[in-house]
Amino acid sequence: MAVEIQIKNLKKKYPNGTEALKGIHLQIEKGQVFALLGPNGAGKSTLVRILTTLIQKDTGDFSIGSITPPNNPSQIQKYIGVALQENELDPNETVTFLLQFQGQLFGMTRKQAQTRADELINLFQLGSERNKKAGMLSGGNKRRLHCALALVHKPQVLFLDEPTVGMDPLARHTFWNVISDLNTKEKVTILLTTQYLEEADKYATQMAMIIDGMIQYAGEVSEFKHLVHPNENASLEDSYLSYLKTLTNTEKE
Ligand SMILES: Nc1ncnc2c1ncn2[C@@H]1O[C@H](COP(=O)(O)OP(=O)(O)OP(=O)(O)O)[C@@H](O)[C@H]1O
Ligand SMILES: [Mg+2]
Repeated sequence: MAVEIQIKNLKKKYPNGTEALKGIHLQIEKGQVFALLGPNGAGKSTLVRILTTLIQKDTGDFSIGSITPPNNPSQIQKYIGVALQENELDPNETVTFLLQFQGQLFGMTRKQAQTRADELINLFQLGSERNKKAGMLSGGNKRRLHCALALVHKPQVLFLDEPTVGMDPLARHTFWNVISDLNTKEKVTILLTTQYLEEADKYATQMAMIIDGMIQYAGEVSEFKHLVHPNENASLEDSYLSYLKTLTNTEKE
């Protein structure tokens, strides 16, 4: 399998002294749906922010495709799509406008950008929302728009930080259909973080468990479950909870 994202000994300390990443080594193969899991404050968003060049690493290296950021910001922006946990949308612009504008930012003509905006509005079932201002959207529809915006330029790698927070069950189902299709039909590599472990269980092929700025496990989702519950048909959530419990007990000993 070709490697899509390679991370070596990545470290990040925020100016207030918080050591968010303490030496991350990780390899993500092309074509995976890769779930980055771990407790609140573990460092997931920090890692995503660094990989998407929004903030800078302290030390270590990483590459995405054949690009080694941050030297080539425009190359990386074309290659990846990003929907972050804390993204801001311009509240006074409509859904259609924001999608078209994004397309034009990526060099599309007005016509191409309109066509792409329509495609994404259909894909994410935002038809009834298309003329609403972003500030007026419900939380779940904002998340759909974030994901649509991340896909305007048909990226090879998609970073999604807690993409389904606030989505209702139907929206979540639709969202995962779209993401699965992108992954299987268009071979887009997906790196996502989520606290909804049943989603990761159902859709992710590989995962990493990050705890306190360090990777504690990286590999197949099925292997992780087997490791924690060798003889059971346990869910990822059961395995995750047992795994955390084991770590806490080991620390106490
Ligand atoms: N801008 C910042 N300045 C200082 N510390 C920060 C900043 N952003 C995050 N942190 C700290 O870095 C650590 C990792 O945070 P991060 O947001 O990466 O965690 P996370 O795994 O994404 O958590 P969550 O599941 O809650 O989203 C935490 O201790 C957090 O408080
Ligand atoms: Mg986060």
